[in-house]
Amino acid sequence: MFSLFHSHRSRSGGAGSSAEPPAENKKRPPVLWLGTNTCAGDSISFLNTLGPGFLDVVYDLVDLRYLHFVMTAEGDMATGILEKTLAERSGEYILIVEGNVPTRSNGLYCVIGTRSGKPYTALEAVRELGAAARHVMAVGTCAAFGGPYAARPNPSGGKAVQEVLDSRVINVPGCPAHPDWIAGTLAHLVWRGEPELDAYNRPIMFYGETIHNLCQRRHYFDSGIFASRPGEPWCMYKEGCKGPVTYADCPYRQWNGEHVNWPVKAGTPCIGCVNPDFPDGSTPFFEHLPDIHLPGVVVNANRVGAVAGVLTAMGIGGHLLANIITGRLPRTLQKGFSPAKPGVKILQKTPAHYLVKSLQKSLGKKK
Ligand code: SF4
Ligand code: F3S
Repeated sequence: MFSLFHSHRSRSGGAGSSAEPPAENKKRPPVLWLGTNTCAGDSISFLNTLGPGFLDVVYDLVDLRYLHFVMTAEGDMATGILEKTLAERSGEYILIVEGNVPTRSNGLYCVIGTRSGKPYTALEAVRELGAAARHVMAVGTCAAFGGPYAARPNPSGGKAVQEVLDSRVINVPGCPAHPDWIAGTLAHLVWRGEPELDAYNRPIMFYGETIHNLCQRRHYFDSGIFASRPGEPWCMYKEGCKGPVTYADCPYRQWNGEHVNWPVKAGTPCIGCVNPDFPDGSTPFFEHLPDIHLPGVVVNANRVGAVAGVLTAMGIGGHLLANIITGRLPRTLQKGFSPAKPGVKILQKTPAHYLVKSLQKSLGKKK
C-alpha cells in the first residue's frame, strides 16, 4: 500500500493502490512531502529535476508516499498514508515541508486534509510527523524562513518550520528552490547522512559562496561599470542586485532545464530569494539599498561608483578596489601568509596592508 510510485522501474500501481510494497521499497526511505502555505513552486521545481531525473528519484532513491499535488487520494484516505507511515516507519521516514506553517487561530489558515472527518491542520501535521522523522527538510524560502507567505503583515501568523518544531530542520531555501538543491540534499541524506550546514542550516555544498563571487559580471563590478536599467549587460548592483549578500550557486548551476540561465544573465538583478529576510528585507527589489552590507564592509553604492572612477583614473584598477572593498584582499593576504606551511614567515605589515587599511577607512569599513 501507499507508495505513489510503486515498484522498481514498474509503472504499475499508484496512489491509493492496496498492493503491498515490493521488497525494494523497504530499502528506500519513505518520504512524506507536505505542502502547507505555498504556491507549489518547489514541487514544480522538484518535478523538473534532471540530474537525477524525477523518475530516478522516486524509483531508485526514495519511496515517495505523499505529495498531494500528484496524488488522487484525498480526505481520510490520503491522511491515512501519513498516519500509517508514522505508526510503522517512525524514525525512518524523511519529512519534506514546502510552505510555511500558519499558527494563528490554532493553525486553521492551512488545513492539509481531514482526519476522522475533522480538519487536519498543517501545524498539527508538521509537529506530529516532524517529531518522529529521521530527517526534516524545509524546502523553499517559505518553509525555511517564512518567506513571501510570512511577508508583512503576515495575517496567518505563518512561521518557518524550524519555529514550530523542536527537531533539527535542514533548510533548502529558494523561491523556488533549485531542483538540484532539493534532489541533491535528499540524495545526500539517503546515502551519506546530513550534509555540512551553514549557520542557517543550509547545505554548504549549494549555499557556501555568494552570488557576487561567482557572478559572470563580477569584472564589471570590479571596474565600476554599472547598468542603469534592467536588461543592460553590465553589473546590476545599482539596479538593486543583492548578489553581494546572497549565498547560493545560481551563477554556475543556472536554471531552466539544462542549466541555461539565471537572473543576472537574463538581465535582472538577484533579489536574494534564498535569504532569511526575503522578501521584506529585499524590497524595493530594483533599488540598491542606501548602505548595502558587503561581507565585512558597509558601503554606499554611489560611493562605490565614484571611488571606482577615481581609482580607475589613477590607474590602480577596479579589481584591486573591489577586493579592498569586500575585504577579499586583506583575507587573501592573511591567508597567503598564514602559518599553514611550517617555516613561512607571517608578514602582517606590508605596504599593501597600509594601502588596504587607508582605503577601507575612507570607504567606511565596519569597526
Ligand atoms: Fe553580479 Fe550582482 Fe555582483 Fe554585479 S552586484 S557582480 S550583477 S552579483
Ligand atoms: Fe534567487 Fe538570486 Fe538565485 S534571486 S534564484 S538567489 S540569483
